[in-house]
Amino acid sequence: MKKIAIFASGSGSNAENIAHYFEKNENLNIECIYSNKADAFVLERAKRYSIPTLVFNRDDFYKSTNVLESLKGYDVDIVVLAGFLWLIPENLIRNFTIINIHPALLPSYGGKGMYGNKVHEAVVANKETESGITIHFVNEKYDEGQTIFQAICEILPSDTADDVASKVHALEYEHFPRVIDRLLFGS
Ligand code: GAR
Repeated sequence: MKKIAIFASGSGSNAENIAHYFEKNENLNIECIYSNKADAFVLERAKRYSIPTLVFNRDDFYKSTNVLESLKGYDVDIVVLAGFLWLIPENLIRNFTIINIHPALLPSYGGKGMYGNKVHEAVVANKETESGITIHFVNEKYDEGQTIFQAICEILPSDTADDVASKVHALEYEHFPRVIDRLLFGS
């Protein structure tokens, strides 16, 4: 049995998509969904799948070992960041394999402050002709760990940031669970 934890700060549509993908897989369990926001919609989504949740604040995350101990308690194989916006502290990086999904083709449009719609707005402002997703290992710097997988979508001159977001979300839903599946079970 493989065990994963998901970290999310907001809506959690990727977290729910991952939960849906693995729902009937008896070889994988989502042990817990962690969030730094007590009102994040991902916590509602977790309830739909009866997944335990843990909400933590900055002190828990950066000045205590609470989150580390919790993850160790669940004995997770990997930690999945699905729309999680805080930098991961070194104690977690040292102890776990952590992967992240970023809504652009890294190394472009990455780094601190580049998340969610801000990424898509920048992509449209720069008149890019393509964007996409990057799934990568997490290190101590924002969006700089080794790339595991990328997928590209075309951007039309008429596309708004919302249009780009829809295309990128579609790629995320299609590929993120499969990449997790491959990482844990091979193919
Ligand atoms: C996703 O598009 C994800 O790639 C992005 O936040 C969104 C979360 O959506 N992550 C980042 O920007 C990280 N830098 P969701 O909460 O509906 O899954």
